[in-house]
Amino acid sequence: MEEKAILELNNLRLSYGGIVAVRDFNLTLNKGSFLAIIGANGAGKTTLLKGLSGLKKSSGGSIKFKNQDITATKADVRASNGITLVPEGRGIFSRLTVMENLLVGSFVRKYDKNSLEEKVEEQLILFPKLRERFNQLAGTLSGGEQQMLAIARALIGVPDLLLLDEPSMGLAPIITEQIFDVIRDINREGVTVILVEQNAGLALKIAQNAIVLESGEITRNTNATELLEDDSVKKAYLGI
Ligand SMILES: Nc1ncnc2c1ncn2[C@@H]1O[C@H](COP(=O)(O)OP(=O)(O)O)[C@@H](O)[C@H]1O
Ligand SMILES: [Mg+2]
Repeated sequence: MEEKAILELNNLRLSYGGIVAVRDFNLTLNKGSFLAIIGANGAGKTTLLKGLSGLKKSSGGSIKFKNQDITATKADVRASNGITLVPEGRGIFSRLTVMENLLVGSFVRKYDKNSLEEKVEEQLILFPKLRERFNQLAGTLSGGEQQMLAIARALIGVPDLLLLDEPSMGLAPIITEQIFDVIRDINREGVTVILVEQNAGLALKIAQNAIVLESGEITRNTNATELLEDDSVKKAYLGI
């Protein structure tokens, strides 16, 4: 069976004023695939995810999602269309409870009361810690719990394409592993995933395909295991 493209980027360009942060970016992503993007600080990873989620307007090129041109589409419309970003630093509302944060995530779909309860329950099964903390303010959660909440808030809107920006940042290795297990399961259930990580070793272990981004340009685009074994990648990104 032929694989189907869910996302097609053609010469996508993202700039801050006159400074180009992501240039001539070409990429085709198949439905259900798992892409890791690795690259040093300042390479343009966050900018790219903002460009895909619609938080940042492109300054050139085009974005096609599910065969529709969404280049000029705003973030809220892209979210209802199925693109959801779990931002760098998690972006949860610390003065709202866990439950209220999940409700915010559900706004992209117009759930009735029953389906909303079902969707919340699904997240609490996936992340049992969030059930214990359900009525607590999100700001009182540990870093790992906040990351779980950020992911749960994204999943409750049933995304087709999940964008994750450095989910391991600031977390203990054991918590990172738990979160990465969940990310892998989400992908196995059919959600297309783009994972941006400084923790290149872990990202390359769970992704299928991988891109190296350097100064806003793709310098490698191959399968993840190949990069994991590549000497120059090991040296630059894995500290081996
Ligand atoms: N709001 C901004 N204004 C101007 N330049 C920015 C802004 N955000 C990021 N940049 C620049 O864009 C480039 C890419 O940044 P970023 O996408 O955050 O990289 P990464 O996520 O890979 O660390 C960097 O050179 C950074 O300094
Ligand atoms: Mg970043």
